[in-house]
Amino acid sequence: MAAHECIAILDFGSQYTQLIARKVREEQVYCEILPYNISVAELKGKNVKGIILSGGPKSVYDENAFKCADGLFDMAVPVLGICYGMHLLVEDMGGKVRHADKREYGKANILIDGESEFFSGVDSGSVVWMSHGDSVESLPEGFVGIAHTDDTSYAAIQHGDVFGVQFHPEVAHSQFGKAMIHNFLFKICGVHGDWTMKSFVEHAISEIKSRVGDRKVICALSGGVDSSVTAALLQRAVGENLTCIFVNNGLLRLGEENGVRDTFENSFKVNLDVVKAEDRFLEKLKGVTDPEEKRKIIGHEFIAIFEEESQKLGHVDYLAQGTLYPDIIESQSLTNPSAKIKSHHNVGGLPEVMKLDLVEPLKELFKDEVRVLGEELGLSHEMVYRHPFPGPGLAIRVLGEVTHERLETLRQADAIAIEEIRKANLYDSIWQAFVVLLPVKTVGVMGDDRTYENVAALRCVNSTDGMTADWFPFPHDVLAKIANRVINEVRGVNRMVYDITSKPPGTIEWE
Ligand code: XMP
Repeated sequence: MAAHECIAILDFGSQYTQLIARKVREEQVYCEILPYNISVAELKGKNVKGIILSGGPKSVYDENAFKCADGLFDMAVPVLGICYGMHLLVEDMGGKVRHADKREYGKANILIDGESEFFSGVDSGSVVWMSHGDSVESLPEGFVGIAHTDDTSYAAIQHGDVFGVQFHPEVAHSQFGKAMIHNFLFKICGVHGDWTMKSFVEHAISEIKSRVGDRKVICALSGGVDSSVTAALLQRAVGENLTCIFVNNGLLRLGEENGVRDTFENSFKVNLDVVKAEDRFLEKLKGVTDPEEKRKIIGHEFIAIFEEESQKLGHVDYLAQGTLYPDIIESQSLTNPSAKIKSHHNVGGLPEVMKLDLVEPLKELFKDEVRVLGEELGLSHEMVYRHPFPGPGLAIRVLGEVTHERLETLRQADAIAIEEIRKANLYDSIWQAFVVLLPVKTVGVMGDDRTYENVAALRCVNSTDGMTADWFPFPHDVLAKIANRVINEVRGVNRMVYDITSKPPGTIEWE
């Protein structure tokens, strides 16, 4: 993507680095998160229009503090140092940083000194978010302070087009943070905002075309957002040379196979190979109750089927995958350099097994960008804003042994819950909603009869990335409607409960 104007974000280990990148992309400016010590030569190959130095957990005077490459500040490119990034450029240019007498965490009011384009449209006295134990004590030659707070003399500094801020403009609590980032990008770096989904689609398609030529590509389609958008993009680029393999493992939600057929076979005219494999999976899962064992069996069986199907297609060169930018960043993470891409993101080791080259057209995008791209490619709003669904599917929501009958019961209960959540206009306000079938029987009374049936649990959470989550505060009437309908309409369920466990200590899934 060298054609786009690029902002380089050097990562010094801040918890906010990805957030900086998101904020830059929201301004329709392409950016990349790069290792803090990337060489000047490498940066020069990237059409870099500005550099942002992230914050970080260390102090610049620590013995093993992270330093950027020599010559970075001689590149004649605008620089914005945030917190640690500011301290680094101050030290590098001959100023002094020290442990602050008063550490500042949380909200502070910045008072703007003088007139800098960086603060164009920003109110003096507005709130910014601070999180630091170090402060700039003396400025390098040529620098001036352009803002202070009650506790920090140098809340923002400038020398020509080099800026440093002690606060975090990227976090939502910084009232005018968006304006400051906008000013840095457009007024100081002089970018034009050429990162739009339309331009991305054109560029991605021509890149895929020139790489793949008339060779064959396969794609494992799960019906989830990432694989659906990947398939839609590949279809535009290589048409007939794409084959999507959709494995119906019998562990999917109600109507899933028909939905995928409708979109991809009927509307998008994709070569779609639907593999009906419920019996095969259920046979392997017979008698298995351990969640990790279930996951392993499902993963292995999926790979076996995928290999068989691709062999039937004859010679294939490429495997298309919906790897996203956060997966890549995670895998080269500064704080955890050995972290690998999560196995469920890359379909359980398929590329290694099959010796195929990878096509990963979403690898520069964040999830919200993938959704915009999906809509740009003509996928429905409903499809691109679907809640996450785990690879092992309903097998980890039928607690205990998985049988066809129990899967059917769960499918129906789940479909009713989702239908009522949609009717109440709550689907887009919830991060993930689903029903779990418990291996517990309880006594009930229906009409004049005593019943002895299963319990179903409703699990609805809000989260930003699935790492932490809290239960969704449902309006009682919607809860009542869901429970009432499930118990009345689904044979085999006579009691419903709502899960009010947060993560941690609970997980989102029950298994
Ligand atoms: P937990 O249950 O770990 O879930 O709090 C966090 C998110 O990950 C999903 N999840 C999985 N996804 N394979 C997947 O593809 C899995 O084995 C798996 N386990 C959990 C879960 O649905 C939630 O979105």
